[in-house]
Amino acid sequence: MKRRDFMKSTLGGALGASLSGVPLAALAGTATTHIESEDINSRSSLKDDYDLHFLAVGDWGRNGADHQVQVAQQMGRWASENPNDFIISTGDNFYPSGVVSEHDPLWHYSFENIYTDFSLQWDWYPILGNHDYKSDPDAQVRYSNISRRWKMPARYYSKTFKLREGAEVLMAFIDTNPLIPEFYQNKEYGPHVTGQQPEKQLVWLDNLLATSNATWKIVVGHHPIYTAGPRTENYDTLAVRKVLEPILEKHKIPLYLSGHEHSMQHLKVANKSFHQLISGSGSEITPVKQGLPYSKFEASTYGFMYFAVKADLLRVLCIDHEGKIVYNTTITPQA
Ligand SMILES: [Fe+2]
Repeated sequence: MKRRDFMKSTLGGALGASLSGVPLAALAGTATTHIESEDINSRSSLKDDYDLHFLAVGDWGRNGADHQVQVAQQMGRWASENPNDFIISTGDNFYPSGVVSEHDPLWHYSFENIYTDFSLQWDWYPILGNHDYKSDPDAQVRYSNISRRWKMPARYYSKTFKLREGAEVLMAFIDTNPLIPEFYQNKEYGPHVTGQQPEKQLVWLDNLLATSNATWKIVVGHHPIYTAGPRTENYDTLAVRKVLEPILEKHKIPLYLSGHEHSMQHLKVANKSFHQLISGSGSEITPVKQGLPYSKFEASTYGFMYFAVKADLLRVLCIDHEGKIVYNTTITPQA
């Protein structure tokens, strides 16, 4: 608050009692009331040619260890110096085994006390990873009632964001865990996927994408459909590909964003409509394979992604834990 404003409000409070009964109009000065927008939101001066901006970070919650802090600091620095509207988490939010409740101390050790920059206090839209399924996944939904910035209304949900001139971005935040049949027999995942009705989620996604007129339709899920990491032919990659790829293809979705592999990747299979981006190196990194025919970029590098979207173009930057831009590309809505 500016000093001038502080004085005004202090005087108003002190004089309020003695002036009661005086019509408000009589108290108004001749000067026009003017609220200076830059006083309200210092970030409003951060503008570029794009209408919507967001960060995406995945696979991060390690109590700050293994470069989580460094990546968080660079996210904060980037979002302070560039326009940004929200943050996406691509899942595996808490290692090694999720959170047991919305009061689990890990919320402080791995989230609140790590992503501390003021520029990261805006909305977070998280999804669930497999590690989040080792404890109570619904605790992460319930944390939305405690946190101002953690916005996870359900295990899967959608959001629509406005662009200029009526254009929109639809984002489907899905839960890939129940789409993997092997999880139902798994000792740790099994109890938490049971009863999740994967077919119901797939019908929801299909209907959502069919009925939306958004210029951009983006699907965000933890498990990749393709990957140049260690899980190229893993059971989870194949399971998710089997059920999600037909839906993405049917609706000509331009972008699927995931985590799970601890690297940054940009993949595009020649005869498929969608680009696949992987942002899963918010802390630990794992190796990538070079030379896969569908890989445009793969890096075993700590970091996060930055997106800038307008009606006809989406720009993606990969930024590492030292703040260096290691990849820069664009995608169009008709991929
Ligand atoms: Fe994962």
